[in-house]
Amino acid sequence: MLDSSAPIGIFDSGIGGMTVASAVTKLLPQENTIYFGDTAHLPYGDKSTAAIQAYSIKICNMLLQQNCKLILIACNSASAAAYELVREYVGSKAKVLNVIDPVVDYVKEHYEGKTIGLIGTKQTVLSNVYKKKVDALDRNIHLKSLATPLLAPMIEEGFFDNNISESVIANYLSDASLDGIEALILGCTHYPLIKTQIRKFYGEAIETLDTSEIVARSLKAWLEQHYLINEKGEGKRQFYVSDYTLSFEQSTNIFFGRQIQLEHYPLWE
Ligand code: DGL
Repeated sequence: MLDSSAPIGIFDSGIGGMTVASAVTKLLPQENTIYFGDTAHLPYGDKSTAAIQAYSIKICNMLLQQNCKLILIACNSASAAAYELVREYVGSKAKVLNVIDPVVDYVKEHYEGKTIGLIGTKQTVLSNVYKKKVDALDRNIHLKSLATPLLAPMIEEGFFDNNISESVIANYLSDASLDGIEALILGCTHYPLIKTQIRKFYGEAIETLDTSEIVARSLKAWLEQHYLINEKGEGKRQFYVSDYTLSFEQSTNIFFGRQIQLEHYPLWE
């Protein structure tokens, strides 16, 4: 039996997943949250599936020790590589959610018979997880995808609303592999930061699917369905990273919307 006052655990390869944490805390301000960014191993997007699985299990152990009622994998690369394994590992101790299934559900409702695009890390795109899940819907939805590995480090370096990011984005989105799409899934938790520039590139004609908002709404719906909303919670927030640098802490501002204090939690020492 899960406890509604228990915290929600959220993890990512680093601080990009804070876009999802921010959407969750805006929608559910009373929930207590524990964020873990595996900054010692970022980026996950270029790692092997086996490595990401090993990191994810270790992080889940830490979140289970904190008695989390729900663990949200706030990283597309880890959702693609480790969701099934993590879910099996965690069992009935907590609910595990990923950032891919809510988006696939959204696409099912809104894009039957259409062609849509996906951008994300190499791990996310080459795993073909989105494609397999979209094909399994059997709704005649054609998914075209492109790995865009430069985007996450570019955003982390603060290039997300200037002419450099504009030309990198234009270069990727002009790739013929995305021709003919009617919507684009932003399949990486860093990408909400470049949503405006992507919208500018396409104009109104193509919807950009901000996964952080879709995921937060789906998480809230799950808590409601299972009577696990923390009605009287005080919204306590804790943020841990496996490797601390001042630069990570300063960057929290762009991903979470305000600067927050990171605590060093050396899981790998
Ligand atoms: N946050 C990761 C994701 O959503 C991208 C960053 C990384 O490669 O670690 O896929």
